[in-house]
Amino acid sequence: MKYIELGQDKTKVSQVVLGCMRIPNLSEKEVLNLLDFSQDHGINMLDTADVYKLGTSEELLGKAFFKEKGLRDKFFLQTKCGIRKNPHLYDFSKKHIIEAVNASLKRLNTDHVDSLLLHRPDPLMEPCEVGEAFNELKTSGKVLNFGVSNMNPMQMELLQSGLDYKISVNQVQLSICHTPMLNQGINVNMFNDSAICRDGGVLEYCRLKHITIQAWSVLQHGFFGGVFLEDPNYQKLNEVLERIANENNVSKTAVAIAWILRYPGNMQAVIGTTKTERVALSCDACKVNLTREQWYELYLAAGNDLP
Ligand SMILES: NC(=O)c1ccc[n+]([C@@H]2O[C@H](COP(=O)([O-])OP(=O)(O)OC[C@H]3O[C@@H](n4cnc5c(N)ncnc54)[C@H](OP(=O)(O)O)[C@@H]3O)[C@@H](O)[C@H]2O)c1
Repeated sequence: MKYIELGQDKTKVSQVVLGCMRIPNLSEKEVLNLLDFSQDHGINMLDTADVYKLGTSEELLGKAFFKEKGLRDKFFLQTKCGIRKNPHLYDFSKKHIIEAVNASLKRLNTDHVDSLLLHRPDPLMEPCEVGEAFNELKTSGKVLNFGVSNMNPMQMELLQSGLDYKISVNQVQLSICHTPMLNQGINVNMFNDSAICRDGGVLEYCRLKHITIQAWSVLQHGFFGGVFLEDPNYQKLNEVLERIANENNVSKTAVAIAWILRYPGNMQAVIGTTKTERVALSCDACKVNLTREQWYELYLAAGNDLP
């Protein structure tokens, strides 16, 4: 495993993070097993959210922490808030943020989270109001670091203007088969669709500001379109992945994740598997150092062009 520094205290966190969105499909025993296995493989960070199966993901983590004493403190624990269900909307009001965190802490069976992300941008956000909520959560020790998810640079600038604490993280969708954030930079000032800037140069912004970039859905194409590994629609990509995997004595999963970690930002890959054997394959990503040639070959094999 490789580690990067995250947040105010520069805590050393693993580049492969266990995402817990899909653990509501598991039994309590299986969740505990998945956490123990991940920890044994060097993963020391968990990612969840209050909305994952309406709190069930956090509840299952809380039960595991209760059952195995000391387990909670082995992980840098990250959750998210800001998405409301019934009605479905985004809510960055102080009241909602505070209430959501209190409910998360109860479900997670802990007195603090190491990182809190605002899940999706709320156009009605008032930066100073968010700042008040963050100050209260930080002063009370309930949240140690703050970040965002799915935000562009101007949204982060606007939000940061009302905060006393630095935005430490932006969690965004990125895989070899989902690269709009890279395409627009590669095709800058062209008339083709790949040149359309949909995110305001968020990767470059995060690098400039030393904000950790966390990639979600690292093995998916589209918006939860399915896993591209073994997908016949991505035959060329699978062939290249397999060749590089064989050269490095790892799996295609490892190479696909290594492709994300090769980007020269402060990168983390949030994996979503619920299977221990795939956690092990994912951790092998840290054994692979892709060359510039391999990185571009994979980008092109996924169906992209270079001008
Ligand atoms: N911030 C956001 O807006 C946002 C949005 C979505 C997700 N997330 C975070 O990112 C994490 C990862 O997202 P994700 O679950 O979409 O990521 P993912 O790792 O791309 O996908 C995981 C899914 O792919 C399956 N899978 C993995 N390897 C496979 C293989 N070789 N063949 C077939 N299926 C395979 C897994 O099944 P098995 O369980 O059977 O292995 C699981 O269903 C989430 O847990 C969550 O923490 C954040």
